Amino acid sequence: MSQTEKIYFSYNQIHNTVQRLSQQLIESGYKPDLIVAIGTGGFIPARIIKTYINRPILTVGLSLYDKNNKPKAAPEKIQWIDEVEKKLKGKKILLVDEVDDSRVTLEYCLRELLSDEPEEIAVAVLHNKNKEKRGVIPEEITKYFVGEELEDNWICYPWDAVDIDNHG
Ligand code: G4P
Ligand code: MG
Repeated sequence: MSQTEKIYFSYNQIHNTVQRLSQQLIESGYKPDLIVAIGTGGFIPARIIKTYINRPILTVGLSLYDKNNKPKAAPEKIQWIDEVEKKLKGKKILLVDEVDDSRVTLEYCLRELLSDEPEEIAVAVLHNKNKEKRGVIPEEITKYFVGEELEDNWICYPWDAVDIDNHG
């Protein structure tokens, strides 16, 4: 990681960002049948989104970094949806993650889910880092919602805090 600055977010700030994100989604008129959360970072944001748009949540587990915090050649599937095809086919999906960073994980996940022939997939991320992206959003994806645009700094999420009382 080349970033030097760190930016800290509290649970309340995250919740407010999700509220704004959900508002954008509702105003767009997109009504997902299902939420798909990319774990682990997308789990808590997806659960908060459920407070505003009450839809079932499915989860997929992907990891780009290994246990020594080195990026892998490609994201690794930790867990995937059973009988994905049956669950996603013809459905409107909202894919949720915490951060759009390099876009590598996001692109991988979108391509995998698109192969299951959903009617549409919209993307919702809490934070988008303004930087050169290595991954691309496939052209089938026309709805992309961002809670907040950020510079390319390292984001410290409250769920990663070991000592939450002294988080930022
Ligand atoms: P992207 O497609 O969504 O842009 O993600 P990318 O492949 O670039 O990398 C994804 C991994 O990097 C995710 O973790 C994500 O949480 C982590 N990441 C990227 N930028 C930040 C940041 O500023 N702060 C934090 N805390 N994490 C960041 P992962 O290893 O794939 O899985 P998990 O940590 O979600 O379990
Ligand atoms: Mg992570």
